[in-house]
Amino acid sequence: MAWGPFDMTAAAAPTYPRTIPTSGGPTEIRYMGEADREAVLAFARELPPHDLLFLPRDISQPKVLGAWLREIERGAMTSLLAVRAGEVLGCATIVREPLSWSPHVAELRVVVLPKARGLGLGRTLSEDAFALAIPLGIEKFVAQMTADQTAAISVFETMGYRAEALLRDHVRDRDGKKHDIVMLAHDVAAFDARLAAYGLAEPLES
Ligand SMILES: CC(C)(COP(=O)(O)OP(=O)(O)OC[C@H]1O[C@@H](n2cnc3c(N)ncnc32)[C@H](O)[C@@H]1OP(=O)(O)O)[C@@H](O)C(=O)NCCC(=O)NCCS
Repeated sequence: MAWGPFDMTAAAAPTYPRTIPTSGGPTEIRYMGEADREAVLAFARELPPHDLLFLPRDISQPKVLGAWLREIERGAMTSLLAVRAGEVLGCATIVREPLSWSPHVAELRVVVLPKARGLGLGRTLSEDAFALAIPLGIEKFVAQMTADQTAAISVFETMGYRAEALLRDHVRDRDGKKHDIVMLAHDVAAFDARLAAYGLAEPLES
């Protein structure tokens, strides 16, 4: 499922579990649930601590993971996992606040183990999250990452995201060092209107 700036095929929501081919072998994409607790903890603990800074809380702590699973249970978060041979290689989460003043905005959080990067998992997980959120009325996606995550920023730019804000010294790592956060955004509604104006696609219903 390719998803470039002028390809909206990702708007067709996929069904799970589904298996995708990668150069590292077939990988399952499916929803995360309670049964994944230990595998997700192992995943979080294998990630370099610096790669966790874009998340509001440290998911390598069992208490934080427990709260995350409860959020999934009550429907406030939706998480997808990329799993091969029982090992979690990547994860994407959609965070929405339907009762806030931004019910049309979703935050996308994606992270892939360093050893599994460059195989297309980050893109697949992001596209799938996008496709799941569109039918929920999401018109704008935001993603935040430390400003030095140049690979992550490039990946999101290839998916149509653009930098919208820079938050200076916004997060502090375990050694006390502060880092800037960059906020990227993808305005689906404006993007769709532009496509319609060019006669390239039907506007999405929201
Ligand atoms: C961002 C991240 C999830 C990408 O995961 P990934 O599985 O390596 O990404 P993919 O293999 O799907 O690559 C996606 C696209 O980015 C490109 N890309 C991958 N690595 C890149 C790099 N280092 N520099 C530039 N572009 C890169 C790929 O070529 C691909 O484009 P294509 O599909 O047109 O070929 C991963 O780098 C990561 O976990 N980073 C740390 C956590 C983070 O900061 N996440 C962002 C917060 S939301």
